[in-house]
Amino acid sequence: MRNPYAPGAGQRPPELAGRDRELQQFEVVLERVARGRPERSMVVTGLRGVGKTVLLNTFKSMAMQRLWGTGKIEARPDQSIRRPVAAALHMAIRELAPRHRAPERIEEFLGVLKAFAMRDPSAAKGTSHWSPGIEVPASRGRADSGDLEIDLTELFVDAASVATDLAVGIALFIDEMQDVPASDVSALCAACHELSQSGGPLIVVGAGLPHLPSVLSASKSYSERLFRYARIDKLDREAADLALILPAREEEVEFTREALDALYEAADGYPYFVQAYGKVAWDLAPRTPITLDDVKVSAPEAEEELAVGFFGSRYERATPAERDYMHAMAQIGDEPVATAEVAEALGRKPSSLSPARDSLIKKGLIYSAERGLIAFTVPHFGRFLRAQPV
Ligand SMILES: Nc1ncnc2c1ncn2[C@@H]1O[C@H](COP(=O)(O)OP(=O)(O)OP(=O)(O)O)[C@@H](O)[C@H]1O
Ligand SMILES: [Mg+2]
Repeated sequence: MRNPYAPGAGQRPPELAGRDRELQQFEVVLERVARGRPERSMVVTGLRGVGKTVLLNTFKSMAMQRLWGTGKIEARPDQSIRRPVAAALHMAIRELAPRHRAPERIEEFLGVLKAFAMRDPSAAKGTSHWSPGIEVPASRGRADSGDLEIDLTELFVDAASVATDLAVGIALFIDEMQDVPASDVSALCAACHELSQSGGPLIVVGAGLPHLPSVLSASKSYSERLFRYARIDKLDREAADLALILPAREEEVEFTREALDALYEAADGYPYFVQAYGKVAWDLAPRTPITLDDVKVSAPEAEEELAVGFFGSRYERATPAERDYMHAMAQIGDEPVATAEVAEALGRKPSSLSPARDSLIKKGLIYSAERGLIAFTVPHFGRFLRAQPV
């Protein structure tokens, strides 16, 4: 019952280990933006299960502690960000509204926000009765042109100006940012660019897979100057140990040194795995301290859970042709592999494999590490595939 570990997508870990540098960087971003200093926003990238969502949520709490307005969206492929952004900014403004002395300023903004939201192409057809849940009438002539770049820019500027009244800022968090449709990415970058020039206190903070920076720079060449990229990776030994030890200590439970060695070996420092192995070891250990034997006994069960929950759920999303493609990648090795080499292994022409490759990228299972090279987004995925019957 007292097991502290939390394997699971976006599950807040009992101890957020090894991310001090990123947290400090974000403090600086918040402070500078609040002071109207020029500042690049942050984009967190990394493999699956490395802790991007958890870090983004922590950033959100930090902004809220400073009384900023905050909102969060999770991007989906093929879905325009217009409505989700409207909903997120609605949340952000709701956080600020009670402290604002001029209700008409809030209402004015909500009118613009509603007009922006209603410009959604799927809402305009009249087929959907989606309503943004905003009680004020939609205004006209601002953020409602239908051109997302113009509309986002106007909306952000207005939102920032409401935050300025309160001497705070607004932070909009975008998880799975690599899934924002290409046209929307460029609108978003352009709006951020405008905003950074005017010094308005609104920032867009993103998280996504390792190829997100190349998605952004393919869309707008100046994106490198807009965002500070923080690549997060597996935890080093010290941090991985702390992630296990500190929550246990709260419950008066210890680990032996050998148990920690074995856990690090098994989890390889990947946060999701640290939580998964830690959880099962705790459950199966009869008493404190948790020993090497406890870890050995529990490892198969932890692996089984990962095989189903972490690897299997993703594997199942792939079609047979996509699975063949991934098995071929796995056979070649765990480093990024050349697409040409995969084609060769499968005895196919590279061009005939592009559809499988592209849809695997779209499904977030693989990413292009650099031109001509691909890699799994899921750590240890090659090892998992090699253990599967083909
Ligand atoms: N710094 C950390 N220390 C300890 N555990 C962590 C840390 N960061 C994340 N975790 C744990 O790792 C798991 C995965 O975290 P999270 O869902 O944030 O990863 P993610 O990078 O968003 O993955 P995905 O790409 O699949 O969305 C969670 O169980 C979380 O509790
Ligand atoms: Mg996530």
